Amino acid sequence: MNGLKIGLFGFGCVGQGLYDILNQNEGFRAEVVKICVKDPHKARPLSDSYFTFDKEEILGNPEINLVVELINNAGEAYDIVTTALKRGKTVVTANKKMLAEHLEELVALQGEYGTPLLYEASVCGSIPIIRNLEEYYDNELLHSVCGIINGSSNYILSKVFSEGQTYTAALKKAQELGFAETDPTLDVGGFDALNKLCILVAHAYGLFVKPEEVFNFGIQSLSAHDFQFAREKGLKIKLLAQVQKVDSGTVTAFVIPQLVRPDDYLYNVENEYNGVTVQAAFADRQFFMGKGAGGHPTGSAVLSDISASRYAYRYEYRKLSQHKNLTYTTAVTLEIYLRYHDEADLELLQLGYISEKYSGRNFHYVIGEVSLAHLLTIREELASRDLFIASTGRKVEPVREKVLVEEALLRQVM
Ligand code: HSE
Repeated sequence: MNGLKIGLFGFGCVGQGLYDILNQNEGFRAEVVKICVKDPHKARPLSDSYFTFDKEEILGNPEINLVVELINNAGEAYDIVTTALKRGKTVVTANKKMLAEHLEELVALQGEYGTPLLYEASVCGSIPIIRNLEEYYDNELLHSVCGIINGSSNYILSKVFSEGQTYTAALKKAQELGFAETDPTLDVGGFDALNKLCILVAHAYGLFVKPEEVFNFGIQSLSAHDFQFAREKGLKIKLLAQVQKVDSGTVTAFVIPQLVRPDDYLYNVENEYNGVTVQAAFADRQFFMGKGAGGHPTGSAVLSDISASRYAYRYEYRKLSQHKNLTYTTAVTLEIYLRYHDEADLELLQLGYISEKYSGRNFHYVIGEVSLAHLLTIREELASRDLFIASTGRKVEPVREKVLVEEALLRQVM
């Protein structure tokens, strides 16, 4: 590709971060030709001549050969990205929600039109995890990818657990610092991590899973009792997203707070930092850590994609053909800590084997096994109740044959 002529969509936290980085980077030549923004009344630190409110000024400009999409709205981002790809423009995006919802189609579109779509900034900010899964772990047998992949919720957990701040104050600060999504429920409800996880699943295992197929539970209902429980056991609560091989033919994935032990690398990942542990057959355990949110860290990942586009880098998605016999499953059991309010909550979870139960004046908890498939069916109900769940970190187990047969028989009877 000759000189890079960039059309930028969005000039929020990440867009401005990228602009700063490009300006401070003397060795890297790329010209931002136009910036398309939404609000004509917002004061901006650049001359008005840079800005447009009409997306065609970028998409229809033949001089612009690279579109960088950094807007909030996933629906509008989808229109911009697909139009640009169809018109032969390389696209760099950070829009994880749009990618998670349309990844399969976007991969097909890249093949059809021969134009690359790069999106390292969409997962874990400055950590180059997608490129690593694509390139380094190309032929590795991956056992699991597990991490803290939402900076805002990790920031909140750190501030509340280690510094004693209130949840509300910590969330407000995460918003002020530009870590949180416009709707912070996406962060604290585990939806942002869920979207990122769907992208990781595609690059780790060559599987397209839709966000609605993957269980997520966030940190909104955390209480002082949960922190007390964790502290007494010498553990920390972290919001983790994970994908793992269950057996040679199946993979499972979920987002759930987890009770993390001090000997786990993720234990010391604090504030807006993200951390990802990759467990592989030959490389064994590897750990990536870096800032997962904020204008400059995320802008640095966008810059890396822009730079890669100069030598026509594209994702090969080789695992799509390598792992043809792999399927996604929720037929696994997890061991969880459940802090609950009344017996109806216990009934809702349909816990299997219970190893610990406590009933005090102020709170009750159990530690027991639950089916991931069941959690997925009660996801909304769970989020509306006064309860909190966290994985104990015990390895997931496939649902035993006998239980599956019983469930199938039950369905026949019904
Ligand atoms: N809201 C996101 C986070 C931003 O907190 O991780 C980076 O994707």
